[in-house]
Amino acid sequence: MIARLLTLTAALLSTSALAQTPAKVSSPDGRLTVIVETSGEGRPDYQVLRDGKPVIGQSRLGFLLTDATKLERYFTISDVQIRAADTTWEQPWGESRYVRDHHNEMRVRLTEGGELKRQLDVVFRVYNDAVGFRYEFPDQPQLRQVNISEELTEFNVAEPGTAWWIPAGEWNRYEYLYNKTPLAEVSQAHTPITVKTDSGLHIAFHEAALVDYSSMWLRRVEGRRLKAELSPGSGGPKVSRTAPFNTPWRTIQIAADAPALYQSSNVILNLNEPNKLGDVSWFKPHKYVGVWWGMHLDTESWGSGPKHGATTANTKKYIDFAAKNGFRGVLVEGWNEGWDGDWYNNGAVFSFTKPYPDFDIEWLTNYARKKGVRLIGHHETSGHVANYESQLGAAFDLYQKLGIDAVKTGYVADAGGIKAPNADGTTRQEWHDGQFMSNHHLRVVTEAAKRHIAVNPHEPIKDTGLRRTYPNWVSREGARGMEYNAWGAPPNPPEHEAELVFTRMLSGPFDFTPGVLSLEGRGGLPLESTVAKQLANYVVLYSPIQMVADLPENYAKNMKPFQFIKDVPTDWAETKVLNGEIGDYVTIARKDRNSENWYLGAVSDEQARTLSASLSFLTPGKRYRAEIYRDGPDADWKTNGKSIVIEKKNVTSADTLTLNLAPGGGQAIRFVALR
Ligand code: NOJ
Ligand code: CA
Repeated sequence: MIARLLTLTAALLSTSALAQTPAKVSSPDGRLTVIVETSGEGRPDYQVLRDGKPVIGQSRLGFLLTDATKLERYFTISDVQIRAADTTWEQPWGESRYVRDHHNEMRVRLTEGGELKRQLDVVFRVYNDAVGFRYEFPDQPQLRQVNISEELTEFNVAEPGTAWWIPAGEWNRYEYLYNKTPLAEVSQAHTPITVKTDSGLHIAFHEAALVDYSSMWLRRVEGRRLKAELSPGSGGPKVSRTAPFNTPWRTIQIAADAPALYQSSNVILNLNEPNKLGDVSWFKPHKYVGVWWGMHLDTESWGSGPKHGATTANTKKYIDFAAKNGFRGVLVEGWNEGWDGDWYNNGAVFSFTKPYPDFDIEWLTNYARKKGVRLIGHHETSGHVANYESQLGAAFDLYQKLGIDAVKTGYVADAGGIKAPNADGTTRQEWHDGQFMSNHHLRVVTEAAKRHIAVNPHEPIKDTGLRRTYPNWVSREGARGMEYNAWGAPPNPPEHEAELVFTRMLSGPFDFTPGVLSLEGRGGLPLESTVAKQLANYVVLYSPIQMVADLPENYAKNMKPFQFIKDVPTDWAETKVLNGEIGDYVTIARKDRNSENWYLGAVSDEQARTLSASLSFLTPGKRYRAEIYRDGPDADWKTNGKSIVIEKKNVTSADTLTLNLAPGGGQAIRFVALR
């Protein structure tokens, strides 16, 4: 379909050379206001008000530098410019086809007194449901090389509340269970971090467009005051840049309830640059199977030997299974040399071009193509980025030659254990989310894009909306996925998905790898889920690539619920969050991008719940056949997770459905538009 011409208005509302203090700007609906001033000895700070009441109290702005006086005081506001913008842009793929970017922008120029007279701009964009701001370092002789030891940005939350967060700076990167604590008990957290204040306001802190910079963690300094803590560099500055440059955007989503909080995360995409890759129709959102779950169950191995999973015969079985059921992709892990021995610590020996002798990559890619299926490549680096970067071009050339157009990468190594290359051939230690890795991921994504290959990193850097600029960066891990249910340690608890939606998922797609209908991990370890919830996760946890993670023989035993996995799309025209509470439950409806059909997913935590879902999202006047996959009356993840009722009934937009969810349960519905 030809893209509609979209609305665009941008107007300079006011500019002043001799700025007033404080500088102020409001959201288009007037409810959110940002105030910037310099107080004390010229210390710049900002506040955010909602309906005149503080949401973020006075919070500092500025930087510590390793080799120059800090940028923190003796500033005056020397110029303020305000503009309005209201545009709508189209996503090549996503949770919604069109995204509206409606905001007022205020650019504040800070000029230092004394000898130095250094200048720093802070640019705020105020939306009806979010605030974003970033620092812009102008070109100036007195501050050209900028070596940042710390960012001084603060978020001083005005009201007490409850926070959902995972620790930052700990060994397991982002793969932690969520803490739910009073805000005043947060220690050091990754973003997104979500807060529900005592008066019910929902706030999430994150960042957008993390490019050539270090990730922002949030450390609670005292009370409810959170402060930026940049992910470490390898000694020396945490960030080194040459002016002019911009920092990533710091984002504050502010919403009345949990559903509105999820919808407010458009701010992350809106603050990223438009698509730099042009026509990306070569990336097709899809579902995929994989030579994968067997390794996590420990019935197969990545390394060579009698349990080797990535053999020609086993991969052929997966290709046949994918072709028969309409799945486009077949991921194969353990196909390449380097997995034997202690692969967690042996990243230097991975080859990204040499297949194991029992894996006939050419025959398999040809066979797959003839059946309408594509192999998905895999590059596990074990964090040895120096080894990976030295082979990057050759690795992607091989995939391009074979017609492999999607690759999963992996950085299994403790946080801080990335091996980065030095010019002299030695390596140094870096963090998964520092400045070096923000650049590494973009090197991979752009090298892949040149060859029309999509990228899905595991143990990644967090998502900050760069899929808008580089739409071949299609998904990533960066939270606890299905694999934890194979290992135990412990498995993901029933509230996990309802926490993810309002925390990790605010940042972007997650390759969670849903759909384990056997409800069993390693050695029969039970998943804390019902079968209906496994289906609902395809709608609830967004990704344009969704794994069909279980073994083919387990789907063969669950053919009726498996039908929903075959039917559910992975690309959406619209998304509506019908209800939800963080960590308790959530119901999401999404419209297929390629038909008139809608899909609904609802998930609960450990409680049984009765939710009501108005179908007013359906087109009025149209009739739909609702294909319902719901927990059976006796379903309970502990005793009877497989109990499911599958039924059909006709509905219209005037109907309201009552959704009965079991403990650890869920519900999935396909609404087929009838003529
Ligand atoms: C961890 C990833 O999350 C998992 O999906 C993968 O199978 C292993 N690393 C091996 O690369
Ligand atoms: Ca992982």
